[in-house]
Amino acid sequence: MNKQVVLYKKLSPELMARLQAHVDVTLIDSLDAHGLMQLRDALPAAHGLLGASLKLDAALLDLAPQLQAVSSVSVGVDNYDIDYLTRRQILLTNTPDVLTETTADTGFALILASARRVVELANLVRDGQWQRSIGPAHFGTDVHGKTLGIIGMGRIGEALAQRGHFGFGMPVIYHSQSRKPAVEQRFAAQYRSLEDLLRQADFVCLTLPLTAQTEGLIGAEQFALMRRESIFINISRGKVVDEAALIDALRQQRIRGAGLDVFEREPLNPDSPLLQLNNVVATPHMGSATHETREAMARCAVDNLLAALRGEKPANLVNPAAWQG
Ligand code: DGY
Repeated sequence: MNKQVVLYKKLSPELMARLQAHVDVTLIDSLDAHGLMQLRDALPAAHGLLGASLKLDAALLDLAPQLQAVSSVSVGVDNYDIDYLTRRQILLTNTPDVLTETTADTGFALILASARRVVELANLVRDGQWQRSIGPAHFGTDVHGKTLGIIGMGRIGEALAQRGHFGFGMPVIYHSQSRKPAVEQRFAAQYRSLEDLLRQADFVCLTLPLTAQTEGLIGAEQFALMRRESIFINISRGKVVDEAALIDALRQQRIRGAGLDVFEREPLNPDSPLLQLNNVVATPHMGSATHETREAMARCAVDNLLAALRGEKPANLVNPAAWQG
């Protein structure tokens, strides 16, 4: 009998066919109340799950006694209880690498948009308020040659450093769990303590994962260290930041502005004070959201799941301790 897979993310026809050639698929169309009920009904027979943007906690996964693998269409794995999965020897896989460049592009888009006030000034034109040459009240600040501070020097941090160093002549400073000699050499990047990075960077960019250690890493104390001219960029996870402290820092002009792709709660509430502030560029968690990259992520997730269900070690195994091979 075929293995049973519950899919809670729509796939392209090509990838759906690839999956269905090997397993029986139950598709949950949307994660609304009805979809969640369908999911709960399908879990008891499931050997594999594939999807994203859903917190899969123990209460839900206890309904799936036969589960062997969870394939996340994301690089971030903060929606999963890794200890729980490992205890149950359920393999968890993710989709790194294929989204690195696209997510770094988003980071740089936010750097440029925030520094050069692209959204604010484009809206001014759209609103018919461009009646004479713009003056200093609408000027932005340069990006090229400014100091790029990267917190979390993983793949995406590195891709951001590459853009800053080679494309914009920016001195790169970084903070991460460990030093990265190859990065230091390639981009002339210099390691800093978190405090020194906050004090020195013109752009403070978060590219680190959300974990128990990084939750709330940046709060009032950290914003107080940043330069008044600095711009804060977050393309990692909203919960790494104390959002109320960020709003305070922006309101009191403790920092110049922010480019934010992620928020404490998503989707961002339309009443969020962040949306009242002209010095904030807010985007809808679109880091990897291009047609090409989302298809590549889905392909990677399908390959990971099929390998796991065949009893092979998947390429992107997050919890190797669960592997019995
Ligand atoms: C990721 O892949 O983790 C992106 O942030 C999308 O969730």
